[in-house]
Amino acid sequence: ARVLILAGGLSYERDVSLRSGRRIADALGELGVHAELADVDASLLSSLAKDPPEAVVFALHGAPGEDGSLRGVLELLGVPYVGPSATSARRAWDKPGAKTLLREAGLATPDWIALPRETFSDLGAAALLDRIAQRMGLPLVVKPSQGGSGLGVQRVTDAADLPAAMMAAFAYGDVALIERFVPGVDVAVSIVDLGEGPVALPAVEIAPKGGEYDYVARYNAGATTWHCPARLSDEVAARVAEVAVAAHTALNLGDLSRVDLMVAEDGTPWFLEANVAPGMTETSLLPHAARAAGIGLGQLLASLVERAIK
Ligand code: DAL
Ligand code: MG
Repeated sequence: ARVLILAGGLSYERDVSLRSGRRIADALGELGVHAELADVDASLLSSLAKDPPEAVVFALHGAPGEDGSLRGVLELLGVPYVGPSATSARRAWDKPGAKTLLREAGLATPDWIALPRETFSDLGAAALLDRIAQRMGLPLVVKPSQGGSGLGVQRVTDAADLPAAMMAAFAYGDVALIERFVPGVDVAVSIVDLGEGPVALPAVEIAPKGGEYDYVARYNAGATTWHCPARLSDEVAARVAEVAVAAHTALNLGDLSRVDLMVAEDGTPWFLEANVAPGMTETSLLPHAARAAGIGLGQLLASLVERAIK
């Protein structure tokens, strides 16, 4: 099968995306799959229409890979692809939207408020942020409502730092999310469905050496320690897997996602977000989980491609 891997593009995660794309191409190539890497630009549309691949794999982080728009184009063209549909991707990509849906589905997700840039440009913004800090308590996490790789994300322990954190988040988008910080174990659960329903791979526990899982900690070898499976009791690990699958299912994420959660000291898994084009770089989380599960990354991707084509 000729498999087209979409990567690059012009999102803030361009470099990460190219790394994910190369890793996917290598992993599939090692199995003899004819995988081509496309650095996404406008020429993609005509080449897809002229010479459609048998399937597409998204290594395209950020928009338009994760926001559903390119998936919608593939749906129009009838090109099968790995990962959630355009509609589901769009829903998961917007963090406040996903959190609302999951809270309604009965899952725990930290309290939050989403503020558009316009609110913040108002002269009363500092007072508003003070009131929010008082009501929600500290620490808080400020992040762009759409985005990935920790870009524009800051943990705020002093209300006086909130305005600057908001500005940092607005650099990446028009809406910023202020979320209550849940102390605990930071875990990522990759979910795959190879035809028998969604299955959770072992949870990866993330322990950044510098304390914060920021861009540098994510993509530099040695900057973060991973434990896979996560150091949780069997009971809590089972609960984490169950909640991750429930989140994946509620968001209708199909054959592939990665659900990120904080496991509080009492064992409650708090949903943070779901990723529809999980990173596949050498330091990314899904490849760790696949390794711990004894599944080769190439084999996993090849199975997903095969299932997408069917
Ligand atoms: N957004 C990055 C690529 C991830 O979720 O792994
Ligand atoms: Mg993410």
